[in-house]
Amino acid sequence: MTATPAPALTAPVRFERHGLIGLLRIANPPVNALSPATVAGLIAGLAAFEAAPDLQALVIHAEGRTFVAGGDISSFEAPDFSTVPYNSFLARLEAGQRPVIALLHGTPLGGGLELAMACHRRLAVASTRLGLPEVKLGLIPGSLGTQRLPRLVGAVLALDLMQSGRMIAAPDALQAGLVDELIVAAPGLPAADGLLQAGLARVQSLLAEAGGAAALVRRSSAQTAPGGPLPADFFSQALATAARKPQYPALAGLVRCAEAAVTLPFAQGEAVEAEVFAGVLRSGASASLRHLFFAEREAAKIPGLPKDLPLREIRRVGIVGAGTMGGGIAMNFANVGIPVVLVEATPEALDRGVALVRANYAATAAKGRMSLAQVEQRMGLLQGSTDFERLSDCDLVIEAVFENMALKKEVAARLGQVCRPGAIIATNTSTLDVDAIAEATGRPADVLGTHFFSPANVMRLLEVVRGAKTAPEVLATVMKLAGRIHKVAAVSGVCYGFIGNRMAEPYMREAEFLLMEGATPAQIDAAIEAQGLAMGPCRMLDMAGIDVGAKTVIELGKAGGLPDDPSYRALCRKLFELGRFGQKTGAGYYRYAGRTALPDPEVERISAALAAEHGVQRRSDISAAEIVERLLYPLINEGALILEEGIAYRPGDIDIIWTAGYGFPDHRGGPVFLADAIGLPAIVEALTRHGQRHGAGDPHGYWRVAPLLARCAAEGRRLSDVGRG
Ligand SMILES: NC(=O)c1ccc[n+]([C@@H]2O[C@H](COP(=O)([O-])OP(=O)(O)OC[C@H]3O[C@@H](n4cnc5c(N)ncnc54)[C@H](O)[C@@H]3O)[C@@H](O)[C@H]2O)c1
Repeated sequence: MTATPAPALTAPVRFERHGLIGLLRIANPPVNALSPATVAGLIAGLAAFEAAPDLQALVIHAEGRTFVAGGDISSFEAPDFSTVPYNSFLARLEAGQRPVIALLHGTPLGGGLELAMACHRRLAVASTRLGLPEVKLGLIPGSLGTQRLPRLVGAVLALDLMQSGRMIAAPDALQAGLVDELIVAAPGLPAADGLLQAGLARVQSLLAEAGGAAALVRRSSAQTAPGGPLPADFFSQALATAARKPQYPALAGLVRCAEAAVTLPFAQGEAVEAEVFAGVLRSGASASLRHLFFAEREAAKIPGLPKDLPLREIRRVGIVGAGTMGGGIAMNFANVGIPVVLVEATPEALDRGVALVRANYAATAAKGRMSLAQVEQRMGLLQGSTDFERLSDCDLVIEAVFENMALKKEVAARLGQVCRPGAIIATNTSTLDVDAIAEATGRPADVLGTHFFSPANVMRLLEVVRGAKTAPEVLATVMKLAGRIHKVAAVSGVCYGFIGNRMAEPYMREAEFLLMEGATPAQIDAAIEAQGLAMGPCRMLDMAGIDVGAKTVIELGKAGGLPDDPSYRALCRKLFELGRFGQKTGAGYYRYAGRTALPDPEVERISAALAAEHGVQRRSDISAAEIVERLLYPLINEGALILEEGIAYRPGDIDIIWTAGYGFPDHRGGPVFLADAIGLPAIVEALTRHGQRHGAGDPHGYWRVAPLLARCAAEGRRLSDVGRG
């Protein structure tokens, strides 16, 4: 087969002739996303094919690692964004009389899969994974994906795929009818080239077998959904399920679209999709989710570092302390094939720690999410020891021993000695001074904080703490490693509690003051959970352990870091004193029947007694609105201080930390994004009002408005835009 280079069309799409087959070759690295230039190129390429009547078929193929893996999300922000040019291109592509065949590899997603579904045939290599993940951005497919997918695979699977945004593997897609044929790429070539060669050959044989090109034309828009009649209440049930999550309007929108796909003619379904798309595009949920999408990518970047900074290689990881955190941290690395040495103080503690990891894997296997062979493979990557010398060949060692500065310093000094030159030493401390720990190693440039969240093998967030002397390549290496272990990472500077726990402090402070003033734990949690947070503060501390929380407060007090206010977090200290550690002791802010939290009159009595002791006035008029303002606004205010002090590089990093690590609702975009949505002047007004309510001038500065917040409010600027050019 000879290829005739054609006149260059608008990059990044080229039109070529391969004998009697036309080829649209997409090359828009890295993932062949549908930029406006790609769409223009596709339109021009189709015109070139239409102008060549001698060609029998058109093949669409993408170079590099994947077929078109989605739309250009940033274009959704443009005021003049429109799906019309792309949609009319897809309509024209499908309407042609000669077959159009997509060759698929990698991850055809979103607008890429919509392109493939507008083609008459889809041939894929077996490793291809396909999906419509728009829901993850609070959107729906807007280029007829909602109308074509149900027609190809039926409404049940289509709705499942679109509402979850999950990918489907090519062999399953073949069975479902989304892919027509699996093909094997020609050997000895880079994957995409091998696919192209095999694909062109297969299209030729298809043309020969079909006895005419026209026989290969099969338009998904004209198909009826397979799978027979659906249960009569299928869509009403699906709507009822979606109604349970009204904060994500795309879910219900997808039900409407899927129903239209199986009950209405294509053109009417198209109108339904367009209406739903326009609605969700304007929704707060989508704006928030798109904000987080970009913030997550941005958070991985460290300002001021050269792009080609050589990174350190991480082939082997050591972990000191196999308690709650150490074991979970170890699993992250074993899960991606990185060998781990787990070092404990005693053989008993080591056995306990390793057994816990095994039990965790076994539980996953029992749920069918992992095979027993995989359990053994991962456990095989894990070696335990009580000998620090075993850490000498590790490229990264993370300490996760008790939260105690003297112990941390002692461990750090040993690691400074044992670890080979060039190895990175990290601490998992949640509140302690990373710089002091770094100095104790004698090699602070190699040191930083890696603050994992519990359970460390599950929670997505990794808060990376840069010390005053952390070497740039050490920071960059750990940020890259975070991606390898599937974490979302954001950087914090050194301060008490870093970004997340520091902002949580005034939130907890107000929760406890409100309890003393007469609110109940259930009332506080309900008000906060109604805002979409996964858990209110009382339930959260009961789960994390009141002992853990109280000890941090006590330690901070010892270090002189508490306000001169004996009522400050007095309740959690009292509960700790009484042995009410939360879930683990069966009582904390609540009492527990198993895992069920029940109101406990005892807590009311304790709160009332503390109120009397500290001269706090009891009230019966505490509203949900007051709870929300008093918990969330000081948290936002602390975020503004953190930004102003340069502890966070950017506002989006704060939002990532709170949504990925603290159960803050992603459909509200994080505390900073939410602050802008509420309006900064309103927040400043409320902070000032609450400060005044505390009488003589807020002596502890609890309600002092962060100067950055006050400035932004006064100048009509968004907090989210701080630091942007
Ligand atoms: N538990 C959480 O929710 C959480 C969350 C984030 C960060 N952290 C931080 O992670 C660290 C560990 O916390 P955890 O909850 O896993 O504690 P843990 O008490 O469950 O485990 C600590 C482990 O360290 C071991 N250890 C103590 N001294 C040692 C030594 N000299 N050498 C080797 N091992 C030693 C202990 O035997 C114990 O198994 C702390 O700094 C904590 O603040 C905890």
